[in-house]
Amino acid sequence: MNEDKLIITDMGESNEHKHSDKPVLCLGIESSCDETSAAIVDSDKNILSHIIYSQIPEHQKYGGVVPELAARAHILAIDEVIKLTLERANKTINDIDVIAATAGPGLIGGVLVGWMAATGIANATKKPLVAVNHLEGHALVPRLKSTSASDSATNIDVEFPYLLMLASGGHCQILLVHNVGKYELIGQTLDDSAGEAFDKIAKMLGLGYPGGPIVDKRAQSGNPTRFLFPRPLCDKPGCDFSFSGIKTAARMLLDKTDNSVIDETFINDFCASFQSAVVDCITNRLTNALKDKRVKDTNPKTLVVAGGVAKNSAIRSGMEKLANKFNMLFAAPPMSLCTDNGAMIAWAGIENYNIGNIVKEPIAPRPRWPLTEL
Ligand code: KG4
Ligand code: ZN
Repeated sequence: MNEDKLIITDMGESNEHKHSDKPVLCLGIESSCDETSAAIVDSDKNILSHIIYSQIPEHQKYGGVVPELAARAHILAIDEVIKLTLERANKTINDIDVIAATAGPGLIGGVLVGWMAATGIANATKKPLVAVNHLEGHALVPRLKSTSASDSATNIDVEFPYLLMLASGGHCQILLVHNVGKYELIGQTLDDSAGEAFDKIAKMLGLGYPGGPIVDKRAQSGNPTRFLFPRPLCDKPGCDFSFSGIKTAARMLLDKTDNSVIDETFINDFCASFQSAVVDCITNRLTNALKDKRVKDTNPKTLVVAGGVAKNSAIRSGMEKLANKFNMLFAAPPMSLCTDNGAMIAWAGIENYNIGNIVKEPIAPRPRWPLTEL
């Protein structure tokens, strides 16, 4: 394992609001895409250790994740990542109360690696095992608030029910989160996810992979009004998204632009204009969601964003303004817990363990596993 690619985050972070005498300790494992990650989290919301082994450099030259390469890299890294996670928390496997791992959705080769590791550990130690839905990891992690974070949105106590914008590389959905395991789909993308749109725009501009963070950074020095990208579906009722039209408009604009004009300013303005279209789509669809009868009847107090795209500063601030307009709180995970990570799986493991949702007989991991089928 290449030590340069290890990200050690939130080490020894402690939460002041302790309430139980002996908190439940969960080892969580994530391997559904291009991060091999493990974390130890307790039921008092402390992250005792958190290791993320990022494979991004391995996939960069292909412009996206290559599933077979990812699966092989997970196999090489998983044992060491779990061992390091225990060591950094100063724990042995005997100290752990629950094992949790992503059992889908995701790239099945990678999911299998983490799931088999977790199953092996749970069987050998006779400890309870939780099969975590990766999307539920993203959906529940805003409840694992981080006391060390400076951003106020990460310090909110997120209580059920809440309205969630789940935006990652693979998914783009508006969900009413009623409780652990109880999700109601309010809207979703009809084509690309928001993360995919960011990645494709970056690829078109030759900016590299993953595109989201690069486009976000470029957009900060760009003019969002220089190019007018479409806002698909924004003149229509409902809460669904469509991003492929923005992508096509971007492609057409680039095709008719002379290469000599494409300088740093052009790229920054292009990124800012694209990002502004995405923010408008998200706030437009969320506005409709907040007026939707199902949402109004449920009366969520908090508007929440989660998933890799939740790292985007413009999306965070657009959603914060919207929450203020509707007299709601706004919450987001700390930056380190937006993209794929083991801590969100450990936390979802604890939330599921608390309601008795543990594996009772062998299960098959699922490449597709909607949140509405928990
Ligand atoms: O949740 P995640 O780590 O993986 C999936 O479960 O899909 O999300 C990864 C996605 C990628 O598409 C990446 O480009 C996007 O999140 N992303 C961002 C930002 N950081 C990561 N998108 C927009 N702005 C960002 N700052
Ligand atoms: Zn994810």
